[in-house]
Amino acid sequence: MKGSLERLKEEALVLIDKAPDDQELISVKARYLGKKGEITAIMKEMGSLSPSERPAFGQLVNVVKDTLEDAFTRRLLSIKKSATLDSLKKEKVDITLPGRRVLVGKRHPLSIVMDEVVGIFTRIGFSVADGPEIETDYYNFEALNIPRDHPARDMQDTFYISEDIVLRTHTSPVQIRTMERQAPPIRIIAPGAVYRCDSDVTHSPMFHQVEGLIVDKGISFGDLKGILKTFVGEMFGEDVSLRFRPSFFPFTEPSAEVDIQCVLCRGDGCRVCSGTGWLEIMGCGMVDPAVFGFVKYDPEIYTGFAFGMGIERIAMLKYKINDIRLFFENDIRFLNQF
Ligand code: DAH
Repeated sequence: MKGSLERLKEEALVLIDKAPDDQELISVKARYLGKKGEITAIMKEMGSLSPSERPAFGQLVNVVKDTLEDAFTRRLLSIKKSATLDSLKKEKVDITLPGRRVLVGKRHPLSIVMDEVVGIFTRIGFSVADGPEIETDYYNFEALNIPRDHPARDMQDTFYISEDIVLRTHTSPVQIRTMERQAPPIRIIAPGAVYRCDSDVTHSPMFHQVEGLIVDKGISFGDLKGILKTFVGEMFGEDVSLRFRPSFFPFTEPSAEVDIQCVLCRGDGCRVCSGTGWLEIMGCGMVDPAVFGFVKYDPEIYTGFAFGMGIERIAMLKYKINDIRLFFENDIRFLNQF
């Protein structure tokens, strides 16, 4: 019996040493030291020994068990250690590699230009007003002196939601809403999105405008010229000249269109300005007394001027962009340039 115990020990020690992982090690342990293990089985045979032999054999079994437990624990530690080393090797990080760049968002060119326009006007005392993009026929047309069935309605290709509700075609209705809410003096700009059933390289069904309105006692066309000259100087440069061309808008009288010297040819005439040397940037005029009638302002006491410009157009001129659709395609190669 002593001999077979000795053999079992040697056998177990070899297997423990060879166990490649903790799974295997545990099963080796169970095979020898477990309840149904071989060492345990030998202990059960102790009964066949004479009483005098038993204590010595019992001691021997204990020594063998301790030896195996010991070997088992050591092997387990070494398996764990090499597993850690393995994973350290496998998961190693090369800290000398350059990091992955995080793509940071950028401001849209239209937001940049919109903020610049709003910034110029707020610095000279305008406050910002707004109104709904889904507008009533009354605010979008009627109260701006554009009656139903009047040919002036053809100036703006309108999206109708119903007979009386439209997507606003311009930011001018904010003029009316503001004047209804408060008495003069008024000095506002109204930035925002507008909609027209129109689409080509210079027209988009959704685009942006900034409207301006000043109403007070004694406001003249000279004030209008002064404000717009300041704006053009800040936006395009002090050296850029502007001119007022007679025009027509139902809500202003007299009305004018404002041109600036062509930003590309500086007035010599090129393809962009169709050889004229001038580029149209906005409409403006003195508020028509009929509009004051709708908001119950006395045109004998108050006068005012208004202007309206398209932000896309300003941005196209500023950044020399020839297709308005580029603003809305969200092509990162385009957007990254601003
Ligand atoms: N609302 C006009 C348009 O969208 C632009 C405009 C012209 C606004 C003259 C004005 C103005 O306030 O006085 O075409």
